Amino acid sequence: MNGKSAFEMLGCVVVLLGAILSAECFAKNDLHERLAHGRQLKIFLPKTSERLEFIPAGQSVASDVYWEKGQHRPKRGSVFTTGSDRRWTLDKVTYADEGTYIQKDFWQKEVSSVKVAVTPRHVFTKCVAGEDLSVSLEGIELSDATLRFSGENINITLVRDGAPVGLDHLDYHDRVRPQHTRIDIREVNTTDVGHYTLLDRRDRVVSIVRMELTDHHDSSGGNPLLALLLLMGIPAGICCCCRKKIFKKKATYTSTTLQTTPVGQYSPAGGPAGPPPSYQPGPGEPTVSPPPPLP
Ligand SMILES: *[C@@H]1O[C@H](CO)[C@@H](O)[C@H](O)[C@H]1NC(C)=O
Ligand SMILES: *[C@@H]1O[C@H](CO)[C@@H](O)[C@H](O)[C@H]1NC(C)=O
Repeated sequence: MNGKSAFEMLGCVVVLLGAILSAECFAKNDLHERLAHGRQLKIFLPKTSERLEFIPAGQSVASDVYWEKGQHRPKRGSVFTTGSDRRWTLDKVTYADEGTYIQKDFWQKEVSSVKVAVTPRHVFTKCVAGEDLSVSLEGIELSDATLRFSGENINITLVRDGAPVGLDHLDYHDRVRPQHTRIDIREVNTTDVGHYTLLDRRDRVVSIVRMELTDHHDSSGGNPLLALLLLMGIPAGICCCCRKKIFKKKATYTSTTLQTTPVGQYSPAGGPAGPPPSYQPGPGEPTVSPPPPLP
């Protein structure tokens, strides 16, 4: 064994430990949360916490107190208590919920703060010709929703401010049905294959639904885990990778992993704090990948 490589290994271990420790400290004082539009936000309320304030992104002062101790109904969201565990939840986050959630104790001292960023949701779905496609509103009001379709030979706005438009396109006449929490495209066929982009009132991308046609659906009994992952909009490629790794582990472990992964609250690795310290480059190796070549 060569002394230099042992020394390098020791160096790596030290760097790794440092990364883990700094991530822990960071997580205790200042949490970062990245959520896809329409997902649930959960904030743990420790015993000392007496109020939850919200500072919208881009502002410096709290605009609202969402919850105060003793309040039966929070001003926004819900509070659940199970045993000694108390949490505040918001069912479907929107861009308006981006900002910092600050908890304060009896003396108005900050207990914790969670910075929340919302990202567009990506969904991949397969339909059999003749079925309806549903595009979820992901928590926005129907009256705020704009839906654009982009297919092989067409770019068209299907819904604006919640109402079907583009009725001059015979193809879509009476097939676009806005509902309370979703927009349905009735009886899809080959011309409907493509991307559906849902925008909010300020033209921010809420979700992108990619739809492809398929001959038949895989029997859901065949692989419920995969079906679940697909439903949650995780690209099939990732599923395949995960399956390979996960199925090597115990079945009990598998089910808990899959349940907790999409929720991913409070994981320091889930935020923009950086990737989990699973890989550490050797000395001299670049830590960041080079930028992609310019077109
Ligand atoms: C889909 O379109 C094809 C022609 O492009 C047609 O033959 C078929 O009947 C259509 N399927 C349904 C379910 O409407
Ligand atoms: C649709 O819009 C995209 C982006 O603006 C453009 O690249 C594409 O060529 C357009 N397709 C058609 C059929 O107009």
